[in-house]
Amino acid sequence: MKKILVTGGLGYIGSHTVVELQRNNIDVIIIDNLSNSSEEVLKGIHSISGITPSFVKLDLRDKEDVVNFFEANSDIEGIIHFAASKAVGESVEDPLLYYENNINTLVLVLQECKKHQINNFIFSSSCTVYGEPDSLPITEQAPVKKATSPYGNTKQISENIIFDFCSVSNLKSIALRYFNPIGAHESSEIGELPLGVPLNLVPFITQTAAGVREQLSVYGDDYPTVDGSCVRDYIHVVDLAKAHVVALKRLLEDKNKTNFEVFNLGTGRGSSVLEVINSFEKVTHQKLNYKIVERRPGDVVSVFADTKKANDVLGWKTERTMEDALLTAWNWEKKVRNLK
Ligand code: NAD
Ligand code: WQD
Repeated sequence: MKKILVTGGLGYIGSHTVVELQRNNIDVIIIDNLSNSSEEVLKGIHSISGITPSFVKLDLRDKEDVVNFFEANSDIEGIIHFAASKAVGESVEDPLLYYENNINTLVLVLQECKKHQINNFIFSSSCTVYGEPDSLPITEQAPVKKATSPYGNTKQISENIIFDFCSVSNLKSIALRYFNPIGAHESSEIGELPLGVPLNLVPFITQTAAGVREQLSVYGDDYPTVDGSCVRDYIHVVDLAKAHVVALKRLLEDKNKTNFEVFNLGTGRGSSVLEVINSFEKVTHQKLNYKIVERRPGDVVSVFADTKKANDVLGWKTERTMEDALLTAWNWEKKVRNLK
């Protein structure tokens, strides 16, 4: 049976995608260097699906290891490439780390695709490629704006690298531009495990409610939005994971229209930071300690997806609400912290 390689498959989105691949009887092999995850995630995956996926601890920056891995695994039919570094602030402080970990590794994996004729490639891109959009909702035709961070730049460069390689090879690829993934698996067996102080809104909310953080800072209430706080498109990670299976099948079944396709993955609905807080308090019955502070430099005002292309062409749509996502995020946080 052919296998699908999932790089970064023990990470947040990768682990949820592995579960959905298994639910579709797809055989998975994971590569991860555990830089932002742990082997414990394998147990979580097993307790959901009953299957422990093959796992190879490997750093994609290590060329010799990567070459040997592909030599030893000649049955890989496609790749879902999650492995990357993703902290925007860190990328500003250490850009070379980001160009090395997000770009060099991509080039190396694509070289192995070429060598071993692996022709199906799903790439984790981001709505960050759109920057501050000219109009909302954002379609895939919206211009890619100059990146505001090295991290964002790596996603733009990566898309270009994949596009260029697809133009001269048999590679078929889909870049999935995620909006803001949140939540956890309904089982609370897997979820997001941020190292240190969370930068993203929802992990900060759940850690504040759990008493790990004293207070949530809301970055600004003077934006031109419904209540002055920034607007984002928060998508449940399980809905996001399911889209990867649909996209992969599209490639495996040769249903793609061009060799490089791009899809937005969001809900199509924008929610403000204060709306997220209110929903969290409502569904979890937790009172959240928060205060309004200065704007965070680099934040865009409003971002939400036009999902028509993903809905019509992929035949995928979200099935879970933001409330579902917030409740699962809270249940996961409680499990991690041993709270009742
Ligand atoms: P994550 O950090 O939880 O997962 C990434 C995984 O890749 C981790 O398990 C990490 O250990 C592994 N990894 C990193 N560098 C590696 C290397 N050199 N070799 C092997 N493994 C390596 O992140 P995530 O949130 O699951 O994101 C997955 C992908 O989606 C990333 O490419 C990220 O940029 C992209 N993305 C994430 C978001 C988001 O908000 N979470 C939004 C848009 C795009
Ligand atoms: C969401 C909203 C904050 C924390 C980032 C990356 C982007 C993509 C997704 C990977 C914003 C506000 C946050 C807090 C707050 N990742 N906020 N207090 O900034 O939309 O996107 O993650 O590709 O590239 O930039 O997500 O979760 O950080 O913030 O008020 O403590 O919550 O200002 O409006 P963001 P986020």
